[in-house]
Amino acid sequence: MRIVLCGPPGCGKGTQAERLTGQFGIPRLTTGEMLRRAVQAGTPVGQVAQGYMHRGALVPDPVIIDLMRERMTDPDCRGGYILDGFPRNRTQAEACDRMLKAARERVDHVVFFDVPEEEILRRLTGRRECRQCGATFHMTFQPPQQAGRCDRCGAELCQRDDDREETIQRRLAVYREATTPLMEYYGRQGVLRRVSGVGTPETVFATVCSLITRA
Ligand code: AP5
Repeated sequence: MRIVLCGPPGCGKGTQAERLTGQFGIPRLTTGEMLRRAVQAGTPVGQVAQGYMHRGALVPDPVIIDLMRERMTDPDCRGGYILDGFPRNRTQAEACDRMLKAARERVDHVVFFDVPEEEILRRLTGRRECRQCGATFHMTFQPPQQAGRCDRCGAELCQRDDDREETIQRRLAVYREATTPLMEYYGRQGVLRRVSGVGTPETVFATVCSLITRA
């Protein structure tokens, strides 16, 4: 099964991708995390991506498409995957379709999360993440057991560089302009599943699972 998760920054793509990975036993391919790791490691991709990410802009399409082409053909992806953060615009969606078609595969479900912007701001300004293992928390909605420490590996929790209010506004504008047209694109393919991302992570997950298994 190949699932795409789409939606505004902070709508819960990563939170739901983690649960879906556990439920369906397929890997989660998270472009934001892949890029943050590349930046941390100072790879050529990371060096290109850093400035764009800091500003809340999209990293150039050729960089992302090459990165995903390589990752999507890894052996652990043979049985399917969850795309978290890709495709993000029409060029990426068309490239994704071409890659899948060449392998005689297709996207089965594109889940679009709707979350109001005031809620997005609350989620992103309170988000904390573990730079060591990638786990995500929220100071109010999903607090760690020990303040400032990751439940999974014990490392220190940090605020993401692009979770400052000014950058969040820029990311929201990029989302509206570049990503929302994908609803029409995937709607025409009959794979669009719109879901309210408001509610607890568990209730949102239950809705996603029921839509996926019913479709
Ligand atoms: P990326 O990391 O993908 O950022 P994003 O799309 O802005 O999404 P987020 O990771 O911020 O949020 P999320 O939807 O995963 O929410 P989460 O589950 O963490 O991309 C970062 C940057 O990389 C981009 O700006 C761009 O520069 C670049 N990039 C990435 N992909 C690219 C691409 N394809 N092309 C070009 N550039 C690309 O949840 C957020 C918070 O809310 C957490 O604290 C969580 O605990 C909490 N939460 C989650 N669900 C709930 C709930 N139901 N109720 C209450 N709280 C909740």
